[in-house]
Amino acid sequence: MSERPEGPRLLVARDGDELASLAADVVQDGLREAPAPRLGLATGGSVAGLYRELIRRHQRDEISFGAVQAFLLDEYLGLPAGHPKAYRSVIRRLLVDHVDFAPGAVVGPDPSAPDLAAESARYEGMLAGGMDLQILGIGRNGHIAFNEPGSSLTGTTRVVSISEATRRDNARFFDHPGDVPRRAITQGIGSILRARRLLLVATGESKAAALSAALEGPVSVAVPASALQLHDHVAVVADRAAASALRGCRHPH
Ligand code: F6R
Repeated sequence: MSERPEGPRLLVARDGDELASLAADVVQDGLREAPAPRLGLATGGSVAGLYRELIRRHQRDEISFGAVQAFLLDEYLGLPAGHPKAYRSVIRRLLVDHVDFAPGAVVGPDPSAPDLAAESARYEGMLAGGMDLQILGIGRNGHIAFNEPGSSLTGTTRVVSISEATRRDNARFFDHPGDVPRRAITQGIGSILRARRLLLVATGESKAAALSAALEGPVSVAVPASALQLHDHVAVVADRAAASALRGCRHPH
């Protein structure tokens, strides 16, 4: 594990267990201070190990989600209600069904709302005040949530098109590549930056270029995750492969 003196706090893990453990520590620290903490949840492969570790800690009575209110970052549009690949279903399987959230404590944008602009505004209203801790992954093209390159760095919850690059990356979660939805409802970068603390989890060599552009390149709409440089309390937990292109991190061990 190595740490940087300034900017985002970078923690480079030796293996998946260490990655999950470091990320879970950040989550526990982020939730500790608030009496009714607000937790922002990302979905996806990068955060699966973190959620498994949070479940383990819950089973050992080290963490409770009983007072936590959780908010999904984003949701696909166009999947039938209850579809197993809808983020609402995925997050249930990855975390929610295995810990002690109160009924109704985990919410997301409603993809079946008849008026999606109104639904976006309603959800953005629920996010007002921001998360105590927001968990994020990063796309290979530098996206965070479904804020694809070109997204405003101050944007709010809205309906977006999913880029072809991201649809291809997400095809691994679906039976057929053509099944990946073309649109989503997503928190904006402005919504995300309101969090008191941000945790970005990045795994695998395929994320190395995006992570380096996000943390060491210019802040630019071309790399949505570069907006993290605008925030004072960011922890980045990466494995060695994802950290391999960072100038400040040539030899993490
Ligand atoms: C998911 C989300 C996405 C993912 C990103 C990385 O809620 O907001 O931005 O975090 O696409 O996905 P994985 O971790 O599957 O590589």
